[in-house]
Amino acid sequence: MNHGTDNTLWLNATLFDGLNTREQRMAMAVTDGQIAWLKPMAELNTGDRSGFECIDVEGALVTPGLVDCHTHLVFGGNRAGEFEARLEGKSYEEIARAGGGIISTVKATRAAGEEALFEAAKPRLQALMADGATTVEIKSGYGLSLESELKMLRVARRLGRELRVRVVTTLLGAHALPPEYKDDADGYIRLVCEEMIPAAAAEGLADAVDVFCESIAFSVEQCERVYAAAKAHGLAIKGHTEQLSNLGGSAAAARAGAASVDHIEYLDEAGVKALAEAGTVATLLPGAFYMLRETQLPPIELLRRHGVPMALATDANPGSSPIFSLKLMLNMACTLFRLTPLEALRGVTAHGARALGLQQQVGRLAPGLQADFCLWDTQNPAELAYSVGLPRLTQRIFAGVKA
Ligand code: NIG
Ligand code: FE
Repeated sequence: MNHGTDNTLWLNATLFDGLNTREQRMAMAVTDGQIAWLKPMAELNTGDRSGFECIDVEGALVTPGLVDCHTHLVFGGNRAGEFEARLEGKSYEEIARAGGGIISTVKATRAAGEEALFEAAKPRLQALMADGATTVEIKSGYGLSLESELKMLRVARRLGRELRVRVVTTLLGAHALPPEYKDDADGYIRLVCEEMIPAAAAEGLADAVDVFCESIAFSVEQCERVYAAAKAHGLAIKGHTEQLSNLGGSAAAARAGAASVDHIEYLDEAGVKALAEAGTVATLLPGAFYMLRETQLPPIELLRRHGVPMALATDANPGSSPIFSLKLMLNMACTLFRLTPLEALRGVTAHGARALGLQQQVGRLAPGLQADFCLWDTQNPAELAYSVGLPRLTQRIFAGVKA
């Protein structure tokens, strides 16, 4: 079988287009790395095939390439020891307050050279790609100094250049307070706003800016200052909000025009309404919920009722979610959060792309979008969420080419 070069006509697909599953078997034409057109097989004329190399997928499920819209893939060291401490009864917050947690990864990341960070991150990204990711967001946030944050972002950009995947980068300078700014959170926020954001923007290293709005991190007011600086430099906004408590950080992010707010276990109805009004995506991170054995569920029913798009991501990081599989997130979103398989699939395709502001480029199978898609060894989309380990990804196409 040919493996799909440019000008390829994929025939007989069971097609999940990023929002819905088509009722009829579909043909999808790919030209110059983009989706040219889609047609039900029953409406295909002989002329439609001319100039195309045809590949019959015999009913196999075709989905958009998966979008992981929230990861922290670049980091030094690991936190297996912290995992053991949590098993012995310490909480995530206790560990953070005692200088472990995020700060222990900061030490290891600052000490690591760019090459070492790249080599460590590569297999993590490859793991995501191995089960279908074609777009992956990568945050900084373990450097917490101008130099180390930029170093992380350069590694993320290099991953995007060297691997067959689209990488979107986010500056998360406001992730935690570094030890040298102890007792001077406002001073650190000034560093983020006045030095990190301008430098990352000037060097083209960041597409967006993120914050951790939480009692163990930064206040709503501090996060608002970061949003203002991000906007002044033309960068998109995201927030880690309402993960461990309800501070109103999601509503503040939405008012500032955030593309997404992420975690949101403690989000209330006023917050959900703020997201609906602003068109902000709610990103669900069941991996962190699972690893931290959280019991507060995100307000799924309210998000549905107010029509807020729900994205779904791995949050892959060394502490709260050392998990490098989006497919596993499909299962966890259904078992833990009671999403339907269709909602979960939209979360890693169309809505994941929206959380990155990329809805006109990726996340759906529609004319004019980039030809990033996956072929699966099943004809039933629900099986992607139902089963863990199977069905197999049989082909991953990136920009029209088998990757
Ligand atoms: O998304 N919530 C804050 N930040 C990360 C965790 C980072 C870490 O524990 O290293 C998260 O869960
Ligand atoms: Fe995160």
